[in-house]
Amino acid sequence: MSATTHRKQSAPSIDKNRVIVFDTTLRDGEQSPGASMNLEEKIKIALLLEEMGIDVIEAGFPIASNGDFEAVREVAKLVKHSSVAGLARATRGDIDRAWEALQHAKRPRIHTVIATSPLHMKSKLQMEPEAVHQAVIDSVSRARNLCDDVEWSCEDGSRSEHDFLCRTVESAIKAGASTINIPDTVGYAMPEEFAGLIRMLFNRVPNIDKAVVSVHCHNDLGLAVANSLAAVGAGARQVECTVNGLGERAGNASMEEIVMALKTRHDAFAHESGIHQDGMLKHAGTYEIMTPESVGLNRSKLVMGKHSGRHAFKMKLRELGFELGDNAVNDAFRRFKDLADRKKDIFDEDLVALVDDEVLRGHDRVKFVSLQVIAGSKGPQTAEVELEVDGELKHAKVTGNGPIDASFNAIKSIVPHTAKLQLFQVGAVTAGTDAQAEVTVRLEENGKTVNGQGSDPDTLVASTRAYIHALNKLMTKRAKTAPAAMRA
Ligand code: KIV
Ligand code: ZN
Repeated sequence: MSATTHRKQSAPSIDKNRVIVFDTTLRDGEQSPGASMNLEEKIKIALLLEEMGIDVIEAGFPIASNGDFEAVREVAKLVKHSSVAGLARATRGDIDRAWEALQHAKRPRIHTVIATSPLHMKSKLQMEPEAVHQAVIDSVSRARNLCDDVEWSCEDGSRSEHDFLCRTVESAIKAGASTINIPDTVGYAMPEEFAGLIRMLFNRVPNIDKAVVSVHCHNDLGLAVANSLAAVGAGARQVECTVNGLGERAGNASMEEIVMALKTRHDAFAHESGIHQDGMLKHAGTYEIMTPESVGLNRSKLVMGKHSGRHAFKMKLRELGFELGDNAVNDAFRRFKDLADRKKDIFDEDLVALVDDEVLRGHDRVKFVSLQVIAGSKGPQTAEVELEVDGELKHAKVTGNGPIDASFNAIKSIVPHTAKLQLFQVGAVTAGTDAQAEVTVRLEENGKTVNGQGSDPDTLVASTRAYIHALNKLMTKRAKTAPAAMRA
């Protein structure tokens, strides 16, 4: 399709009860020093943004470089649910190039921009206001002739003269823009003042109801999110933002802060902008204004610390679905106290891992007792392992190619076997540097495969426990399949 082919799509309808999230991480965010992304990275981020439900993904500035063009084109082809926008200045070349990159998108949007502040028009564009006004009409008309979804931005909008701003906004809408974006390009505005600017547009631009009013705030004074939220309070229904507030100079409004503020303080925005209040969120806990689930995490409840008693511990285990006998509870409680000495916050997941790791393995023939390792660059890496095998304490001190290899070799010298290590995987049970490591070890012997798991704040201990767990399973399997006379 040529750059001038006209395609019909329906323009976005304006839902006054909804704030459109426009993410510009791949365009404005990328302008931050050191943040340039390659094609693969841009695609990955775009697909994640789509998965998160972002309404509009600005994928780049197609005329800027071949790489940018390519990225916008690929993102446009792959993204199916979000709109994909490409930036263009108010020139034919920019607009046609943007359309060329966007034409295969399911929901393409041309985003065209020109500065409207006296300073920018004079020093940067070197254009008279009348010429800028004409360029607005020409650029939006051209874009609208190619694409049904056109956004127009007045760069440095927050420092533009009100009369001129109202005139250009009105003309942009007449020329076919369905989104009018008001940027605070240099991050200069204050929340009340910026909200006032948005209110002024709603009061003075006669056709303003035909477009979604959007805001795009920079963070030079640390007010990007505050200004965006103030604008939403005044009626703006699209917010432009970036992941982690990434962007030039001090960055853009942070997407996660905007989204969570809108979600958590839905009541406040509903009140200010006259939205029905019946959907108001119910209050969360006394100290928890957001739930882990609302940001896509599992609920991690802080349950207990080292001062917790045995009774509370037993109750907690019951709540988690573990019904253990007294001896098993005592064992688990001992390990819990040990863990609480080393790990500040004990979460439900830690307790599940702990119980699973220790108590449910009461019948294991081989039990972990202790591990001491010499690791580091000087070597030789050595592991000193103490195990209880069929009730008897055994000990070995062995070297290896790294501390984990040394630990596994030590186990092998205490419990000789021919099993081969097929998988060794390390993960974390919860977040933080003091999180418990959760290790999986897969062993294979004569066609029999077993998985073992171990958890501990110390990755080496977790690995040793996982290996021992797998070994115990293997011994059980061997015993079940061997003729009675051969069972050890
Ligand atoms: O900050 C700005 O003004 C911009 C426009 C292109 C929207 O990034
Ligand atoms: Zn910007």
